[in-house]
Amino acid sequence: MRSFLFVPGDSEKKQAKAQDSGADALILDMEDSVALSAKATARAMTAEYVKAAPATGPKLIVRMNALDTPFWEEDLKAIVPARPFAIMVPKTISGACIAKVAGALDRLEQENGLPEGTVKLCNVATETAASLFNMGSYAGASPRLFAMTWGAEDLAADLGARSNKDESGVYTGPYQLARTLCLLGAVAAEAMPIDSICKEFRDEAALRAETRAGLRDGFTGKMAIHPAQVPVINEVYTPSDDDLAHARAIVKAFEEAGDVGVVSLDGVMLDRPHLKQAERILAKAAE
Ligand code: COA
Ligand code: MG
Repeated sequence: MRSFLFVPGDSEKKQAKAQDSGADALILDMEDSVALSAKATARAMTAEYVKAAPATGPKLIVRMNALDTPFWEEDLKAIVPARPFAIMVPKTISGACIAKVAGALDRLEQENGLPEGTVKLCNVATETAASLFNMGSYAGASPRLFAMTWGAEDLAADLGARSNKDESGVYTGPYQLARTLCLLGAVAAEAMPIDSICKEFRDEAALRAETRAGLRDGFTGKMAIHPAQVPVINEVYTPSDDDLAHARAIVKAFEEAGDVGVVSLDGVMLDRPHLKQAERILAKAAE
């Protein structure tokens, strides 16, 4: 899964458009893109949409309201019977938040006659200052947890920051830290690290640079807020012919060398971690 497109849960027009966006997954949002007065409408519309969506379309993830709101239990009650691929939990503070939602899913799956573990979980892990101190706590929180992502907007609000970027458009220290901790926490939890949104949705160059930086650092996909961002994200997160040729050359160099720990290729030393990374790229392309 490379691209995850946010779709406001109360917009019929955007929901319709999103199906053909080319995104690998849609995040149907009942949280911050929905006004308080529209929560019930968004919940009903999202449940209907998930029920009616073709099985061949993008994977459907529903972002519930946060655990400190009066909405989240109603959200899950309405959405679980529609069998989404996953629920996204916003504003988690630690693995305990994931365990709490997983417990609610256990009960709802049983009530609705669904096999236990049908609905997976992902979370936005960096939205408060407190959350950054618990990023190691997601490992083992629930076998449902398949992905983790980060966000800079709510964290900036929590910190009282005037901006999360400097004059040249680069994230400042606190948000770089949040991004890094999310990446490490996700990998430690054996979940997919998913990069945050680029909110300047008319700036393709900025999106491309940000997406490439995510790929470079180990993220395996990125969230989008506008359909125009999807093709860029898909392209960057699809291994190129050059990437594949290089990965094959590394695997071949090890095969030909026999039972050794280190080989050289084009004047570069390669050892086990490089082989592991090459095999990972080939496995991804085979998916
Ligand atoms: N999903 C599906 N369709 C979308 C979309 C989205 N996220 N964002 C825009 N579109 C549609 C528009 O409805 C429009 O459709 P049309 O051609 O039939 O009129 C088309 O794509 C072009 O949209 P555009 O005019 O360029 O943008 P906009 O001004 O309508 O919308 C935003 C801009 C930011 C409000 C919109 O992209 C959006 O709602 N994004 C998601 C926000 C969100 O979910 N935030 C929460 C997570 S951070
Ligand atoms: Mg948020």
